[in-house]
Amino acid sequence: MTTHRIALIPGDGIGNEVIPAARRVLETVGAQHGITLTYDSFDWSCERYVKEGAMMPSDGLDTLRAYDAILLGAVGYPGVADHVSLWGLLIPIRRGFQQYVNLRPIRVFEGVPSPLRSAKAGEVDFAIVRENVEGEYSEIGGRLNRGLPEEMAVQEAVFTRKGVDRVVDYAFDLARRRRGVLTSATKSNGIVHTMPFWDERVAERAARHPEVRWDQEHIDALAAKFVLAPERFDVVVASNLFGDILSDLAAALAGGIGIAPAANLNPEREFPSMFEPVHGSAPDIAGLGVANPLGAIWSAAMMLDHLGHGEAAGRITAAIAAVLATTSVRTPDLGGTATTDEFTDALTALL
Ligand code: NAD
Ligand code: IPM
Ligand code: MN
Repeated sequence: MTTHRIALIPGDGIGNEVIPAARRVLETVGAQHGITLTYDSFDWSCERYVKEGAMMPSDGLDTLRAYDAILLGAVGYPGVADHVSLWGLLIPIRRGFQQYVNLRPIRVFEGVPSPLRSAKAGEVDFAIVRENVEGEYSEIGGRLNRGLPEEMAVQEAVFTRKGVDRVVDYAFDLARRRRGVLTSATKSNGIVHTMPFWDERVAERAARHPEVRWDQEHIDALAAKFVLAPERFDVVVASNLFGDILSDLAAALAGGIGIAPAANLNPEREFPSMFEPVHGSAPDIAGLGVANPLGAIWSAAMMLDHLGHGEAAGRITAAIAAVLATTSVRTPDLGGTATTDEFTDALTALL
């Protein structure tokens, strides 16, 4: 019997609907594979902020450090400014635990048609490796001359050699374990100063990974190629902001952002990694019980894989593929009428 301690942070909005669904799936698969997960649930959220003035306690990171992994829903809710919820919880966890890889797989499943005519199930299967702790999401910057005609906002994009090299190495290594093809998202035509540096680092690291075929694409052209020929990609490595935008685009071309999972990884395992769906708290549908739990369930499968249970994780992704291919049970975002619970029932029945 293996035991892992999991910190659950459902957060806000549909986070409170999709995380319980993911937990049900984990419990079913765990029981079948002799994996015991113990959970502590934390109410860290915008609701807590309104009541107590902080998204999480000041020693929140110290508390989380004791866990083997973190499973998070989403944070952010109308009434609390997004910069409060993000800088008060999500970003400190990603940075504090050096989760510098944000791994976001994309698959077109049979039974969930892509909005792109050309994208076929089984053919579109790639992963975005998003740099997750620096780049365009830096703390350096701010707003000046508020309210004046001279008002301005500036933010420095910060790319370090260490920060770029480690995420690029992770991406090359992942490509080697997949189909051996890496694409680097860039904007190197000299307009954005940071990107020629990114390119230099990618080229230098490439020399250490001769078994991987790689190229680079400008981010604008790459966005177009995601739409025109998504089957061409295997691993795409991107800076923080580029990776953020590409991952919602890729999720949409796989049928919707409710499906897409993410793993915020600290590959050295010095700190816990965090698993969360790509989507946010979806205030427009929160409380209706109809959120698609697939992104959270797939994220939970990535967590099991990270914890060393590849077989159990594979059973969850197989059940995801099977429920989509063999039943018509779908949440409304995928054109169905099922609730979150009904969809989760249909999926767990296949485990
Ligand atoms: P969002 O992902 O919450 O919603 C965008 C659209 O997609 C909405 O129409 C929503 O109903 C739909 N959607 C998202 N997930 C769905 C699901 N599982 N099932 C069905 N439909 C789904 O993005 P947004 O509207 O830009 O942001 C809302 C809030 O969430 C903001 O406060 C934002 O800061 C926050 N946010 C948090 C995270 C995070 O914590 N990781 C990520 C993204 C956004
Ligand atoms: C994501 C989200 C976050 C990000 C926001 C909410 C800060 O969009 O996880 O993709 O940009 O990282
Ligand atoms: Mn995003």
